[in-house]
Amino acid sequence: MAYTEQAHQLIDQFGRRVDYIRLSITDRCDFRCVYCMSEDMSFLPREEVLTLEECARLVKVFVALGVSKVRITGGEPLVRKNALSLFEEIGHLPGLKELVMTTNGSQLEHFAQPLKQAGLSRINISVDSLDPERFRKITRVGDLSKVLRGIEAAQAAGFANIKLNTVLMRGINDDEAIPLVDFAIAQGLDIAFIEEMPLGAVDHQRDSTYVSNQATLKLLQGHFPLISSAESTGGPAKYWRVAHANTRIGFISPHSHNFCEACNRVRITCKGELYLCLGQEDRVDLMPLLRAYPNDDTPLIEAILASMRVKPKGHDFDLQRQAPAVIRFMSQTGG
Ligand code: 5AD
Ligand code: SF4
Repeated sequence: MAYTEQAHQLIDQFGRRVDYIRLSITDRCDFRCVYCMSEDMSFLPREEVLTLEECARLVKVFVALGVSKVRITGGEPLVRKNALSLFEEIGHLPGLKELVMTTNGSQLEHFAQPLKQAGLSRINISVDSLDPERFRKITRVGDLSKVLRGIEAAQAAGFANIKLNTVLMRGINDDEAIPLVDFAIAQGLDIAFIEEMPLGAVDHQRDSTYVSNQATLKLLQGHFPLISSAESTGGPAKYWRVAHANTRIGFISPHSHNFCEACNRVRITCKGELYLCLGQEDRVDLMPLLRAYPNDDTPLIEAILASMRVKPKGHDFDLQRQAPAVIRFMSQTGG
């Protein structure tokens, strides 16, 4: 295809420009967080998962189409064997301004330094509790001390603007909003509170644990001098600054706020499915094109350009519904 300058940009039918992809490189994880996975998760066989070479190829194609920010997610990206080689392959691509990763932090003590060298710009680390026993309960198997060492290692490697991601659940860890913000302030980290979303069938009814970000903000405002901040990372988070501290507090509120008008992202699962919205089923399968045309990106590019016509207007989460909003788990779509 002779694609013109204009075709280098991904623009959907609502005029939204897509310049950000989130790529899940594995559905596996060394944790089993209760809001993310069921107790007896089964994982994909290896041949159904993109190879790291295929992942790199996809990133290169998207960057050629004007994508400037890439987030590597999972599952837990660092449990994928040789994950580092992918970061090394794409970390310094011209046109890629930001390469970021969401991780549970369990392997960071080993990988923070080489990831920094490979060109990773920023890291988000999921932490839902600072109490080791409770941390174990929420993750079912996780070791908090490893994650804390991972955070230290990321700081020592020179990562700035490290962000904690926290999902608060009623009766489980909703009393930890303040201690977690205290920790973020003491460590010079940012923190984002993410409302629990009905993705995948887990072992509890979602509305029994739901905590609204509105309630969390109110609680935090009673304890910290918070200044509303107009700054945005182009994403769904609304930010507040803690006065006299280096910490920003973000709220990602898929239930109480509709942020879909400004959506700039698409997601790619570890099976190579291009999902146009986290909360909808619209998707295009890229794996068959990757495998049928190993040396020709044209069919891939055409499919990606065509996908812009099916990107939905927005999501619609309903916690009361018995069935999850979408069947797939966050670990499959990429958090
Ligand atoms: N709802 C909200 N957040 C979730 N995460 C995983 N599953 C869910 C869910 N169902 C979070 C993880 C991680 C981020 C990428 O998404 O904790 O921090
Ligand atoms: Fe793993 Fe993250 Fe899911 Fe927890 S939320 S099980 S750390 S992928």
